[in-house]
Amino acid sequence: MAAKDITTRTASHVAIIMDGNGRWATSRGWPRLVGHRRGANKVRAIVRAAPGLGIKHLTIFAFSTENWKRSTEEVLGLMALFARYIRNEAEKLREAGVRVRFIGSRDRLDPVIQELMAGIEAKTRDCERLTLTVAINYGGRDEIARAAKKLAEDVAAGRLKPEEAGEDALAARLDTADMPDPDLIIRTSGETRTSNFLLWQSAYAEYEFTPTLWPDFTPEELAAIIDRFSRRERRFGGVVSA
Ligand code: FPP
Repeated sequence: MAAKDITTRTASHVAIIMDGNGRWATSRGWPRLVGHRRGANKVRAIVRAAPGLGIKHLTIFAFSTENWKRSTEEVLGLMALFARYIRNEAEKLREAGVRVRFIGSRDRLDPVIQELMAGIEAKTRDCERLTLTVAINYGGRDEIARAAKKLAEDVAAGRLKPEEAGEDALAARLDTADMPDPDLIIRTSGETRTSNFLLWQSAYAEYEFTPTLWPDFTPEELAAIIDRFSRRERRFGGVVSA
């Protein structure tokens, strides 16, 4: 791949691992769900600020394939929060030109939530200012395994020749098939793990880790991170031209 000119680099696709809601709440002696509620408010603020920062794609990690291990109360509370967010925000997001999409495996989700997800995707399909992709019941390995299964099925059915089963064919079967790869992945709360987020798509992404807990994250901090990113070199394994 060709090297990029550092003067023209923009964070057009930003992905965020929104971590620290639980600690934000428990450090105040409050239930974890209060932290998630504050976290959802912060999603609203960041989505509103994103287009002004040059972001065209914003992808957020809302619920991982591992999050089912949390208490029933917390899982149900998070699901209720997603449902409320979709119901309250759908019209506002459409008016703001935000297309909403979901990645992850939907089968295990409550049918009511699945319906709300399909509804907001249909309602905002033609919006072009920003694409907000929400990862729910998402895991990078799960996504790659599902894509590999589709690939195998297509080869077995004669729809694809074995020699065509390469990188492009696999990428075309991921949940993110028609999306660009992320330029920048941000994780809040001081953890420096990638936690199975966008495993395939992050091959050339830059990572930024901030100690800020997600409910305390601000559009100003996002702007500062993007500013730093746009000054950093990226080589794609090649050589940056002078
Ligand atoms: C991580 O904090 C956060 C989550 C697992 C859930 C993310 C959900 C939201 C921000 C709320 C709503 C989202 C939408 C799309 C409306 P944590 O609980 O792991 O925090 P901890 O590490 O401090 O325990």
